[in-house]
Amino acid sequence: MPGPTEDLFADDALQQPSGREQIGDESYVLRGYALPWIDRLLPELRRVLAQSPFRRMVTPGGFTMSAALSSCGALGWTTDTSGYRYSPLDPRSQQPWPRMPQALRQLAAEAAADAGFADFAPDACLINRYVPGAKMSLHQDKNERHFGAPVVSVSLGLPAIFLFGGHERSDKTQKVSLFHGDVVVWGGVDRLRFHGVMPIKEGVHGVMGPQRINLTFRTAG
Ligand code: SIN
Ligand code: FE2
Repeated sequence: MPGPTEDLFADDALQQPSGREQIGDESYVLRGYALPWIDRLLPELRRVLAQSPFRRMVTPGGFTMSAALSSCGALGWTTDTSGYRYSPLDPRSQQPWPRMPQALRQLAAEAAADAGFADFAPDACLINRYVPGAKMSLHQDKNERHFGAPVVSVSLGLPAIFLFGGHERSDKTQKVSLFHGDVVVWGGVDRLRFHGVMPIKEGVHGVMGPQRINLTFRTAG
């Protein structure tokens, strides 16, 4: 039998805030939103990653990203020395990316609707894996053809500090702690705001192990 302290910390819901937090005019953190989906989501994610495993990609500037990437859906985001782009093929296998599992698509669409964006139909799901020390520098999501649809971001595993900036790289950033199961949605006037992730702290997550996995859904094509 676990003691009372272990019991308390075994339950993610007790460690994290719940409900909806507004972080911009059209941006929200939906606390714990993905938790009821986890049991459906993880086996699907494993299938996707068996087909298109995580790999570290190189930026146009020649730097190897610290986060490892994969994708599912009709389009996958990739980078190499010739630029950032969406591609229907996994460059590693030259085969189409794995299909976007229904559970993932539905979770993203429901979260978007909850944040005020009805009829979100993502065609791209970027999967980022961060081990402790990995980070994501400030950037805008702007390789999509249109910006009418929001970005929906699902956090799994180790906590992260998400940086949510403005429309200029130099704008002040808000620091938003993200935990296993949290979903962030930004769109509309906030769609092109800079954002990033601070280096992940050492740790082992009870469900996901020593890593953070982030899923970002977008309408790219
Ligand atoms: C991204 O902007 O591509 C990832 C954001 C995150 O990992 O939370
Ligand atoms: Fe991004």
